[in-house]
Amino acid sequence: MILSDTFIYSDDKSLEFGPIFEDDLDIWFKWFNNPVVVNHSVHSRSCGTNTIELQRSFLKKLELDEGKIQFSIRDVSENKKMIGVTSITTVSDYSGVFSIEILIGDVSCWNKGVAKKTIKTMCEYCENVLGSKKIVAGASSKNIASILAFERNGFLREGLLKSHEIIGGERVDIVILAKLNGVSYE
Ligand SMILES: CC(C)(COP(=O)(O)OP(=O)(O)OC[C@H]1O[C@@H](n2cnc3c(N)ncnc32)[C@H](O)[C@@H]1OP(=O)(O)O)[C@@H](O)C(=O)NCCC(=O)NCCS
Repeated sequence: MILSDTFIYSDDKSLEFGPIFEDDLDIWFKWFNNPVVVNHSVHSRSCGTNTIELQRSFLKKLELDEGKIQFSIRDVSENKKMIGVTSITTVSDYSGVFSIEILIGDVSCWNKGVAKKTIKTMCEYCENVLGSKKIVAGASSKNIASILAFERNGFLREGLLKSHEIIGGERVDIVILAKLNGVSYE
């Protein structure tokens, strides 16, 4: 992972996207122990209780992954408290395809437009900084909020991976969403 070393902001300046610091680990690791947070996410894979040490080693492993840029999401009005994480992964440099992932770990921030603003900012970063031609994302078919947040940003449903993941102990379908930039489906 390349930890983001720059700070970028949502259009309304309410969210800051930037690096993750050692001090953030204490907030970050707890999200994965909250069943409400991992309910529709692949993070629900049963791997036991998460700890701050596991989160630190996860961060270190990610640092070796040069195909991923990891951003913290911070609430500017709450003293820049970390409320989530988002990442951009290179799918293909050659064809300009990138994927976006998002997790809002602070449940008190849900349904306030954070995902929509985050996805918009990440798309602009992909298009303007990385020169993306296509951005893809995946979500459990049961994760209505996640699917809507991508669709509100111009993503279209491209496919359905049947029984593709085990989330919350049951097999679920994954909706594949994509947004084109300057290229067409024809
Ligand atoms: C799913 C998640 C990203 C949504 O983030 P969010 O900041 O609450 O989403 P937003 O407030 O931007 O809302 C996006 C859309 O979903 C709708 N929505 C929000 N919560 C909803 C819910 N519980 N049920 C149905 N729709 C919901 C919003 O109204 C909005 O639609 P609108 O434009 O028609 O108003 C967030 O809850 C999360 O990170 N959950 C845990 C991890 C996860 O599931 N990550 C995604 C993996 S693909």
